[in-house]
Amino acid sequence: MAANDKNKVTILKLRRQKREGLKTVMTTAYDYPQAIIADGAGVDSILVGDSLGMTTLGHKTTIPVTMDQMISACEAVSRGAKSAFLVGDMPYMSYQVSNEEAVYNAGRFVKAGMDCVKVEGAMVDRIKAIVDSGIMVMSHLGLTPHTRAKLGGYRVQGKTAKQAEIILDQAMALQDAGCNFLLLEGMPRESAAIIADKLSIPVYGIGAGDKVDGQLVIFHDLMGLFWEFKSKFVKRYCEAGQIMQSALKEYAEEVRTGKFPTEENFYAIKEEELEKLLGGGNWKQEKVVYETDQGFPTNHCATPNTTTTNKQPPLFDSHK
Ligand code: KIV
Repeated sequence: MAANDKNKVTILKLRRQKREGLKTVMTTAYDYPQAIIADGAGVDSILVGDSLGMTTLGHKTTIPVTMDQMISACEAVSRGAKSAFLVGDMPYMSYQVSNEEAVYNAGRFVKAGMDCVKVEGAMVDRIKAIVDSGIMVMSHLGLTPHTRAKLGGYRVQGKTAKQAEIILDQAMALQDAGCNFLLLEGMPRESAAIIADKLSIPVYGIGAGDKVDGQLVIFHDLMGLFWEFKSKFVKRYCEAGQIMQSALKEYAEEVRTGKFPTEENFYAIKEEELEKLLGGGNWKQEKVVYETDQGFPTNHCATPNTTTTNKQPPLFDSHK
């Protein structure tokens, strides 16, 4: 974080939001454009989740995701997000083996630009070791995908009084160990509400009802970019996949019918150079007339920018 970055969301702001009863907004991002979009929309926090394995890499679970894949995603997100509080998700087997490995891997996330790491399960000793090294931790309880086999699959947790009490005890122990935030996944609203109320640290939820201190919804779920399944707690806010596909169909149609590219997309050659080129006699080509002197494209594109202006489109205007 730059020393003068006044808009940067910090742990102080997130704690204050809990104290004042203001809901915190979280989503995920896995690359640079998603980070720019989420940050520009004013979300408080971005999780670079290992859900990247499913949303982006096409795996069936998060288990195959590696540290290197996570670090590359975190670096891209941290280049795109200027304000949001950034949380890096420690992938399967990056924290389970020993305190030393957990601290080393957590440090890689910080070097990749993350403000905090997220660790699944009630591994109190492990989380204490990471916190003691000076790195903030968001613990993740309830439905924990890394131990889904042990849970008997992706099942809602805390549905009985006994189960809810166990999760509350785990949450208290993690808070005592110094963990800074808690994320509850796949829990009944009432069980999650009790935990959020009892803990002094911010408690967020994904599929844990509306009484927690903030909500996390995965970017691809809310945008309509994930089609394998849709969980009950997900609300789609747009069908970005459909919008993108229609754009591609229009593009394909225009290429096939010769409507694209047109003059505004062409690069120019100077008149005298063209004369030289055609004057050799070996070339037979009709002279092309350009609308502007330069003939450079002026629309925005991801290819190298050859225009003199570099103004960003309104979509990416900062929310602050
Ligand atoms: O990887 C992720 O996005 C997560 C959420 C499902 C909590 O861990």
